[in-house]
Amino acid sequence: MTILVTGGAGYIGSHTVRALQRQGLRVVVLDNLVYGHRPVVEQVLQVPLVVGQLGDRALLDQLLSGEHPATGGAPGRPGEAIEAVLHFAAYAYVGESVADPARYYRNNLGDSLILLEALLAEGRRRGGQPLPLVFSSTCATYGIPDPEQIPIAETCPQRPINPYGRSKWMVEQLIADFGAAYGLPSVIFRYFNAAGADPVGDLGEDHTPETHLIPLVLDALSGRSPYLQIFGDDYPTADGTCIRDYIHVSDLADAHVLGLRKLLAEGGSHVFNLGNGTGYSVQQVIDTAKAITRRGLLAHVAPRRPGDPPVLVASAERARRELGWQPRYPELSTILSHAWAWHQTLIPH
Ligand SMILES: NC(=O)c1ccc[n+]([C@@H]2O[C@H](COP(=O)([O-])OP(=O)(O)OC[C@H]3O[C@@H](n4cnc5c(N)ncnc54)[C@H](O)[C@@H]3O)[C@@H](O)[C@H]2O)c1
Repeated sequence: MTILVTGGAGYIGSHTVRALQRQGLRVVVLDNLVYGHRPVVEQVLQVPLVVGQLGDRALLDQLLSGEHPATGGAPGRPGEAIEAVLHFAAYAYVGESVADPARYYRNNLGDSLILLEALLAEGRRRGGQPLPLVFSSTCATYGIPDPEQIPIAETCPQRPINPYGRSKWMVEQLIADFGAAYGLPSVIFRYFNAAGADPVGDLGEDHTPETHLIPLVLDALSGRSPYLQIFGDDYPTADGTCIRDYIHVSDLADAHVLGLRKLLAEGGSHVFNLGNGTGYSVQQVIDTAKAITRRGLLAHVAPRRPGDPPVLVASAERARRELGWQPRYPELSTILSHAWAWHQTLIPH
């Protein structure tokens, strides 16, 4: 069975490609390489990479039907048809989405609509329902939850507060509507803070620019950056810094395999949070990272960033119950150790 992974040259997508390979599934990656890494797909994972835009409908049709060289086919001569799509491709910089919302709605929302239409058309061509879809959504769709709603369940109201979060929320709405009208089988995963790296050590997080806390802490500890900025130390938390739920990227990848299996077996429309259900403050992350690396860092406290809630912690009970998902690396120290092992392979800035 062949699976199309959009955004598979990126951080979470590449780890999920590996999890799919371990299940004996064939994978084709579609990525525009705006943020992804060609060597990760071609050299580390060694799966076919199609460099292109998700919104290229002709390319999608060729891929889904198997009439693309990456699937072993040619126009009019199908190779391996695609059986399902895991859709990671998106731009994910909140600040940029505020400054340039058009880029986010065009890429994240517009291109996703084109993908959904292609799934529908290919399903009809095969005489059935649309091809199954697994979509990467985010806890950013919850906006700033009321404190009494922590830990956040899937039923918590979604009130995204920036164009990035809204673009993801809107794709969720499209998926729900395509499910109701056309029977699109779907799993939506709302990730909390993806972190860590494959324990093998050859895959990890490498965003440019980087905005995620753990790689930024490791940058400061390794000397790749001169200091770390802490955005606000006056939140209503025990040490005044923000609390987040860090989930190991390999655990996210495992959940995708389980979600895909459920879809292929049962169809339907499903939404799952993915997090550990435990929150750590920025200060706790720094302290644990210092202990693991036995290094120090310079930290400057900067003003709060607009829209950062004090606490975001998931309830992922539904994924545990319905998918049988069990995170393998829930400890912050393990997440940081794996991230640090990977970080040391990165070229210094
Ligand atoms: N990293 C996190 O903590 C986190 C949290 C919640 C949700 N997410 C979501 O998970 C997904 C993956 O995140 P990531 O951290 O791996 O990001 P990433 O930037 O590392 O990967 C995304 C990949 O998609 C590609 N891409 C983007 N738009 C595309 C398009 N229109 N056509 C083709 N390729 C395109 C990029 O080049 C990149 O390789 C995203 O959808 C993101 O919104 C991430």
